[in-house]
Amino acid sequence: MKTILFFLLISFCLVNAAELETLNLMPVPESVQLQRGKFILTNDLKISIENYNGKRLDKAAARFMHRLGGRTGMFFSQDFHLDKSKISGANLLIDVKREGKLELGENESYQLSVTENKIKLTAETDLGALHGLETLLQLLDADTSYYFPAVEITDQPRFQWRGLLIDVCRHFQPVEVIKRNLDAMAAVKMNVFHWHLTEDQGFRVECKTYPKLHEMGSDGNYFTHEQIKDIVDYAADRGIRVMPEFDLPGHATTWLVAYPELASAPGPYNIERNWGIFDPTFDPTNDETYKFLEAFFKEMATLFPDAYWHIGGDENKGHQWDANAKIQEFMKKNDLKDNHDLQNYFNLKLEKILDKLGKTMVGWYTDKQPVLSKKYIIQSWKGRESLYESARNGYRCLLSHGFYIDLIQPTSYHYANDPIPPDSILRDEVKKRILGGEATMWAEFVGPETIDSRIWPRTAAIAERLWSPGHINDMDDLFRRLDVTSFRFEELGLTHIKNYDMMLRRLANNTNIDALKNFVNVIEPLYTYSRDHPHVFKSYYPLTRVVDAAQPDPPVVREFDSLVKDYLADKTNSGDKLKAIVGWLKLWKANHELLNVTIKKSPVLNEIATLSEDLAKCAGIGLEALNYIKTNENPDAGWIEEKLETLKQARVPSGETELLIVDSIESLVKAIQQ
Ligand code: ACM
Repeated sequence: MKTILFFLLISFCLVNAAELETLNLMPVPESVQLQRGKFILTNDLKISIENYNGKRLDKAAARFMHRLGGRTGMFFSQDFHLDKSKISGANLLIDVKREGKLELGENESYQLSVTENKIKLTAETDLGALHGLETLLQLLDADTSYYFPAVEITDQPRFQWRGLLIDVCRHFQPVEVIKRNLDAMAAVKMNVFHWHLTEDQGFRVECKTYPKLHEMGSDGNYFTHEQIKDIVDYAADRGIRVMPEFDLPGHATTWLVAYPELASAPGPYNIERNWGIFDPTFDPTNDETYKFLEAFFKEMATLFPDAYWHIGGDENKGHQWDANAKIQEFMKKNDLKDNHDLQNYFNLKLEKILDKLGKTMVGWYTDKQPVLSKKYIIQSWKGRESLYESARNGYRCLLSHGFYIDLIQPTSYHYANDPIPPDSILRDEVKKRILGGEATMWAEFVGPETIDSRIWPRTAAIAERLWSPGHINDMDDLFRRLDVTSFRFEELGLTHIKNYDMMLRRLANNTNIDALKNFVNVIEPLYTYSRDHPHVFKSYYPLTRVVDAAQPDPPVVREFDSLVKDYLADKTNSGDKLKAIVGWLKLWKANHELLNVTIKKSPVLNEIATLSEDLAKCAGIGLEALNYIKTNENPDAGWIEEKLETLKQARVPSGETELLIVDSIESLVKAIQQ
C-alpha cells in the first residue's frame, strides 16, 4: 500500500520527459525534475544571500535582477537584496558555504529548487551559485504572467576546463568585444578565457619593460595594463579564469620587429600582413632570449593571476634554425637531434622561468610528445589521437581539435566531438587527465562586427558538450534550445543576430534587404581553409562582404533540409511539410529577379549574382521534381540527368560562399525515380 501511495505521489508531482522538453536549459543540467506548479514573478522578488561574505555573488545578484527586469519589463523592488536581519521577507534564498577560488578543479556544483512560493539556490561556492542563477534565468517562462516552473535541479560540470580562445592578433578585438563574450560564456557556464595575445600580425599587450614591443608591433591596437586588469576582474566576477597566450618561439614576427637581435636570422622584420605560417623565430641558443622573456613574463605575471600560462609552441617549421650555422653547431654540441629537440630545450628553459613565477605551462601539441615535467598541459588541435597519446603519456590535456569554430563547420559536428566518447577504452586514470576542451576563435576572417556570429550560437553547443553528461546528445533538442539560447544572448549585448540585418543593409546601400536576406539565409561562408580564392587574404582587407554577413549553419537551411527529409520519409502523411517546402521553393524561385535589382545598384554584390541565379534555378527544379513525385509521372528522358547537372553547377562556390540547399533539392530529384 505504501509503495502504491509512493508511486501515486511521484506521478502526481513529477512530469514526463516530453514536458521536460519544454525547458530551454543550456547546458542541460546533470539532473532535472520538473514538478507541477510555478513560481509566479511579482515585483516583490527579494534575494537573501546567506553564509557569505564575498563580493562576487552580490554583483551577480544585481546583474540577475537587472536582466530579469529587462526581459519582463517588471519594476522590481529596488531593495531586492536583503541583509540577514530581514531574511524572512526573501523569496529567493541563496546559500553558499564559501567564496570559490578561481582555480582548476574548484567546486562549481549547485542545487536549485523552485516551488510555488520559494526559490532556493544552494552551492558549496559562489561559482556554483553563479551557474545556478544562470540556470534560473534560463527557466524563465511566460503565459499571462512571467514565472519559473517548479523544478528540482542538481548540477555540476562533467569537465573542469571549458574554454574559449579569442585571437585578438589577426584582427584586433577591443575591450567591449571581449566583455560581451565573457558574459555569453558565463551564460553557458564556460570557465576559461584563453586570450591569444601575440602573433606574427600583432603584438596586443602594453609592455612597460620593453615598450617597443607594443609600439612597433601593434599598429596602435593593443590592450593597456588598465584594460587587461579590467578584463581579468570582469571575467573573475563571472567565474571565468583568464589564461594568456604568448606564442613562442614561432608565430613571433611582431616581437622581432622591435628586437631583431633575438631572432634566429638577421632582420629587419615588419608586421606580417598575410595569413599563414612564417619563419621569424626566436633564437633558443641565445642567452639574451631568456633574459628578455623572463623580464617580459615577470611584468605580465602582475596582470594575469591565473596559475596557467600558454606558451603557444605551434607551427614552428624551424626554417631559420636550419639555416643558422651557429644554431646547428649548438644542437650538435648539446646532442639535440632535431628541431623538436631544440624546441623542447627552449620549453624547458621557459618552464623554469614560469616555475619561479608560480605558473604552470600550457602549450599546443607539436607533432611529437615533449619531454617536460608532467605538470605541463598539452592542447590537442590537429587530431584527437594526440589527446589520448598525451594523456596516456602522463600529461594533462585539453581538446581543441573539432572545436575550431573559425573553420565554419556544422554545430552538429562540434556537438558530437566528445573528448571522452561513451565507447572510450581509456583507463580511468588516463581519462582523468583529459581536463576538458576549448573552442578556438582564430581571427583571420573576423572583425569586431562579425566575431560574435562566428562564436555564437555554435559555441553554446560546445559548452554543453563540456558541461552536460555524455548521454545528452539529442540533436533535435539541441537545436530547439540553441535557438532560444542564441536569442537570449542579445540581452548581453551580443551582436550575432542584430548585425546580420545591419550588414545586409550596408551591402544593399540602404535599400530594401528582403531579397538579399532570402538569399544570404541559404548560403554559408566556405570552409575557412578553402578561402584562398579569388582573394589571398591580408590584414586590412574588408570584412563587410556577403561572405562576412553569411552565417555558419544557417537556421533556414536546417529547417528546409529537415522538411525535405521528413516529407520524403513519409509522403502520404506530410501535407503540411509539402506545403512549407513549396512555400520556400516559390520564394527562392522568384528571388533572383528581385535581388538583381539591388545587385545592379550595389557593385559589391556582383560576386554573388551567379549564385543568386543558381538559387532560383535550383528552386525551379525542386518545384518540378515535387510535381513529378506528387503525380507519379515520369519526366522526359534525360530530364533527371540535365537537372542533376544544373545542381552540380550550383555547387560551385562564388564570393567565397556556397549554396546549401542543393543537397535537399537533389534528394527531391532522385526521389522521382523511386
Ligand atoms: C593552431 O591552430 N596553430 C594552434
